[in-house]
Amino acid sequence: MTGVLITAEGVEGSGKSTQLLRLSEHLRRLGLPLVVSKEPGGTALGREIRTLLLTPHPSGEAWCAEAELMLFYADRAQHLAQVIRPAIEAGKIVLIDRFEDSTRAYQGASGVSEHVLDRLHELVVGRLKPHLTLLLDMDPEVSLQRVEVRNLSLGDEFKETRFDQAHLEFHRRVRARFLAIALGDPTRVAVVPARDAPEAVEQAIWHRVAPLLRNAGFAVE
Ligand SMILES: Nc1ncnc2c1ncn2[C@@H]1O[C@H](COP(=O)(O)OP(=O)(O)OP(=O)(O)O)[C@@H](O)[C@H]1O
Ligand SMILES: [Mg+2]
Repeated sequence: MTGVLITAEGVEGSGKSTQLLRLSEHLRRLGLPLVVSKEPGGTALGREIRTLLLTPHPSGEAWCAEAELMLFYADRAQHLAQVIRPAIEAGKIVLIDRFEDSTRAYQGASGVSEHVLDRLHELVVGRLKPHLTLLLDMDPEVSLQRVEVRNLSLGDEFKETRFDQAHLEFHRRVRARFLAIALGDPTRVAVVPARDAPEAVEQAIWHRVAPLLRNAGFAVE
């Protein structure tokens, strides 16, 4: 049996990590073989790249768009080689917190051209495609407020990543790009309204995940 790749996407604070945790707990209760990971930083070396990407440098120098993009793809190449491809080949269910669509949405909104994105995609990801992408969709004005509350409760260490500081307008463009991706690939991408209560979002997600797993031969009641 071949595995199943499911990715969670959406603007910051839309509930990706919350929902993947709920989904993974559910799948573990069912005794299903599971790998849960995230991007950037799904491998030991990738976590070094994550730090490079998300920690502002004391010099004030920032990555130019192309360098940033290639760091994301270096992280992804390592993640695919070390974690994602082996797990799929081993017949596991693979859940990833952010993947390709985040690169397309964020780096696209930062001005990287579709052409460049397509070329790196071809080089690193090739024909691999998630079986299902859960796009947690909501207005970033509300989701960024959630992030603020979350980060305050987490303390200094996790306060404001570099991406959190960008403006609301940028996040609105990111959301629009996610929705455009969904529109262009409706069989892969499920748009899940993310403003509802966590339990309702969890149900909507299960509604999409259960039939997929059943069809792939996993024992889902
Ligand atoms: N449906 C919901 N309703 C209200 N609050 C929620 C909901 N889902 C998650 N939250 C809260 O909102 C905050 C952000 O959620 P979470 O960290 O899961 O989002 P995320 O999409 O993973 O964000 P990021 O992109 O920053 O990783 C958390 O404090 C979480 O507890
Ligand atoms: Mg998260």
